[in-house]
Amino acid sequence: MKTLLLFGATGLVGQAVLRQALADTRVGRVVAPTRRPLPPQAKLENPLIDFKALPEEAPWWRADGAICTLGTTIRRAGSQAAFREVDFTYPLTVARVAHRHGTPAFALTSSLGADAHARTFYLRTKGETEKAVADTGFASCTIVRPSILGGDRSESRPMEAISTGVMSALAWMIPRRYRVVPAENVATALLNAAINATRGRHVLESEDLQ
Ligand SMILES: NC(=O)c1ccc[n+]([C@@H]2O[C@H](COP(=O)([O-])OP(=O)(O)OC[C@H]3O[C@@H](n4cnc5c(N)ncnc54)[C@H](OP(=O)(O)O)[C@@H]3O)[C@@H](O)[C@H]2O)c1
Repeated sequence: MKTLLLFGATGLVGQAVLRQALADTRVGRVVAPTRRPLPPQAKLENPLIDFKALPEEAPWWRADGAICTLGTTIRRAGSQAAFREVDFTYPLTVARVAHRHGTPAFALTSSLGADAHARTFYLRTKGETEKAVADTGFASCTIVRPSILGGDRSESRPMEAISTGVMSALAWMIPRRYRVVPAENVATALLNAAINATRGRHVLESEDLQ
């Protein structure tokens, strides 16, 4: 039975990963470090951490597989620099520390269009994160690139809700790659990647997640 290390368990995709992992008989233990506490559950260990001062020597960094669903928006973070800290620095740091402790597999939530040479800051940052994480040295590294996420979000993001609604209604005329992807599908892909830990680098595009 495997131990899963999960970063981002309070978010839309992270909550779905957590739910699925806790119900999955292949997973014996989930370690989900967060900055605010999760409701206690069987199989769940929930260290409270400060991402600016990670407990890098904690024993729980060694797992069978790790998943990162951390992320924010430039608007929510308040600046490009603050966004980059959450979407580049934190994922890369947790990847490096987990790798140093011997965790062999890492699955990262990125984005459709992520590209280290993209013109937009968001996609460029996502692309840089992908590259840096993939270069960390995991035996198995999977990058998952969803289009707009579908699912129930407690936080209000009106523009995202409008685009999700319009895109869902018009799904039949939108190429698969650009359709809304249920957060549950992204979670399943991440979980399978982290548990199966197939050797090498893998990229799952949005059309693979429909
Ligand atoms: N939204 C979309 O349509 C979309 C599309 C493509 C790709 N993505 C990417 O998919 C990933 C998951 O998205 P999501 O919608 O599930 O994200 P989300 O619901 O906003 O959750 C983000 C997670 O990151 C954590 N986080 C945010 N700011 C933080 C900070 N300053 N310090 C520490 N932790 C922080 C949150 O923790 P707290 O709960 O403590 O804030 C939460 O666990 C992200 O990388 C996102 O860029 C999203």
